[in-house]
Amino acid sequence: MALLAGARPSAAVCPPLKFMSYYQRHIFFCLNERKNGEAACAQHAAQAAFDHCKKLVKVAGLTGPGAVRVNKAGCLDRCAGGPVAVVYPEAVWYTYVDQQDIEEIVQVHLKGGQVVDRLVLPADVGR
Ligand code: FES
Repeated sequence: MALLAGARPSAAVCPPLKFMSYYQRHIFFCLNERKNGEAACAQHAAQAAFDHCKKLVKVAGLTGPGAVRVNKAGCLDRCAGGPVAVVYPEAVWYTYVDQQDIEEIVQVHLKGGQVVDRLVLPADVGR
């Protein structure tokens, strides 16, 4: 059954939450590249940020089921705010500049469960 754009699924089609929490938190980094000159996260050192996050999460012992997973993603369609990353299940979108920003996301959000307000991507930023 397809959902209409913007429609929320009913409780009948949502799996119980216990099936959605294999990881406590899941962060996706857009690593998209474009060769046509349009904005893309890869132009803003997204790969280095992803690598740094993976390393920090591993060193902190946060990896694995019930903990944190760091994943690559293609375009998340919010390119104008790039580089971007999103953390689930909270669905908090971040933009970042340097490795210190990544360190703060890891310590404060992925480990501590608090949102890093200063790095939150404004809601109206799209492609
Ligand atoms: S290129 Fe990163 S969100 Fe589109």
